[in-house]
Amino acid sequence: MAFVAVARLDEIPPSRGLRVTAGGIALGLYRIGDAIHAMEDACPHAGYPLSKGRFDDGIIVCSAHGLRYDVRTGFDPGHADGFPIPCFRVRIVEGRVEVDLEDRINAPQARSARPSPPLAPKKTTAP
Ligand code: FES
Repeated sequence: MAFVAVARLDEIPPSRGLRVTAGGIALGLYRIGDAIHAMEDACPHAGYPLSKGRFDDGIIVCSAHGLRYDVRTGFDPGHADGFPIPCFRVRIVEGRVEVDLEDRINAPQARSARPSPPLAPKKTTAP
């Protein structure tokens, strides 16, 4: 656990993202009600900063080509079985927003408990 301060809570608007950099990682910070969410700020399509897009109801829409991501999970809301954008644990301490860059909340290995599809029977050759 290595929380680092990245912004003041009052800097994060309710209707758009705030781009910050910490530990060499660009992050988008988003406010949903009283909660703040931190997601890596690079669209997987072509790297555009997602925080510059339209933000509504927890979904950020990339302003380059329109892909959508849920900032709470990092997933495209229509493809929850895809690869998520890294999201990180956030805490608020005395009005400061702190992000733990070592604690990604949606790492792919965390989803490995999902059953995998059955393997095809192994082909054997006759002797
Ligand atoms: S760079 Fe984001 S949709 Fe293309």
